[in-house]
Amino acid sequence: MATVLVASNRGPVSYVRGEDGSLDARRGGGGLVSGLSAVSSDAPQESLWVCAALGEGDREAVRRGVGEPGVRMLEIPPDVYDDAYNGIANSVLWFLHHHLYDIPRAPVFDADFRRRWASYRAYNRAFAEALAAEAAEGAAVLVQDYHLALVPGQLRALRPDLRISHFTHTPWASPDYLRMLPDDIREELMSGMLGADELGFHTTVWASAFQSCADGGTAGTRVSVHPLGVDADELRALAHRPEVDEKLARLRAEVGDRRTIVRVDRTELSKNILRGLLAYRELLTVHPEWRERVVHLASAYPSRQDLDVYRDYTASVAELAERINTEFGTPGWQPVLVSVQDDFARSLAAYRLADVALVNPVRDGMNLVAKEIPVVSEAGCALVLSTGAGAYEELKDDALTVNPFDVSATAEALHTALSMPDADRADRTKRLAATATALPPQRWFLDQLEALSR
Ligand code: F6P
Repeated sequence: MATVLVASNRGPVSYVRGEDGSLDARRGGGGLVSGLSAVSSDAPQESLWVCAALGEGDREAVRRGVGEPGVRMLEIPPDVYDDAYNGIANSVLWFLHHHLYDIPRAPVFDADFRRRWASYRAYNRAFAEALAAEAAEGAAVLVQDYHLALVPGQLRALRPDLRISHFTHTPWASPDYLRMLPDDIREELMSGMLGADELGFHTTVWASAFQSCADGGTAGTRVSVHPLGVDADELRALAHRPEVDEKLARLRAEVGDRRTIVRVDRTELSKNILRGLLAYRELLTVHPEWRERVVHLASAYPSRQDLDVYRDYTASVAELAERINTEFGTPGWQPVLVSVQDDFARSLAAYRLADVALVNPVRDGMNLVAKEIPVVSEAGCALVLSTGAGAYEELKDDALTVNPFDVSATAEALHTALSMPDADRADRTKRLAATATALPPQRWFLDQLEALSR
């Protein structure tokens, strides 16, 4: 039986089926992986990570009994999983927490929504049951994210002895926005969350939003703020692998001695990539002195491509970048270099090359890119940062901050960032990097574990 359990939709490992039928395990990184490693290496604690089987490879692994020690994958019926993950978590809860609805058309809460919500409840229930079965008496259970918002309440009913926390990696919706949900569903969501002893958020803004949504108060549940940061040593080591050096040499050859504006995002609707490109276009129009002297390196990894709205958004990003290149490009200069591959090594190379980092989400739980670029950039970078990013709360004093909807102000901030004297840029970068690394993943995770045992 485990004494520390983590639950998240996406786990630390996934399986891909090879042509010969073999299963190839791919291990992921990220804050939770390094956080939990601090526990696993800490003797008498026995840890278990409960996650969902995501694709066919994972399902096959579960069926064949293939697995990693300390990880349990749940095989949820594919139609139930699709309704819960795509139909509710990504299409409803993600939209609510990031304020993304195009109100004249959406949301529509009809019979089909109710069917998907029943699947979401069942999927959460599968996690609650697995956790209840695996947890030792009095164990600590750390549930992650909007996919599993009902788990704390469901698990509390099954196992009142457990200490349960839930961490939200996204923003939390404002009360008016959350009130769009049908009353009974909103109450189910809130009471699911309030089944936890501890609720964690990245910033005080999202924690307060949650508290304002809890009409009946949060008695019995502590709400706390743990702003996830980056591990400087680990990130610098990753950024100086030979593979990254190679990509850097290639990027340098393309960019020449021009300045760079770097952005790296998963292509999510909340990342505001289109307005970022519009701001770059306005910069080249209003400040033509930058033409031929700057290159915008934009990495936009594909994300959640099962959903039409994500695919359309990705296509719009590529189209707009192409339009800018056609409008302003010259035989020796391509203004925007877009990469739509999930290529972490290229992103790290771009980080190293960054003179300016553009992070302009409309709303974002934290945004670790805003913290990573200052740690890795070689010459120091000026950070153009949206007021909607969770990272704004910690980094605002040393960033150039912008309203994410104000394209002209963003263009002007890019101009200021590109024109910033080297010494000012270096000073700000040093302070940004210090703040960014204040709470590295292992500490972030252990803090939550300690809070749970108080
Ligand atoms: O970035 C916010 C976040 O909720 C992360 O916590 C989580 O890992 C991710 O989004 C979920 O993304 P995906 O749908 O690709 O698993």
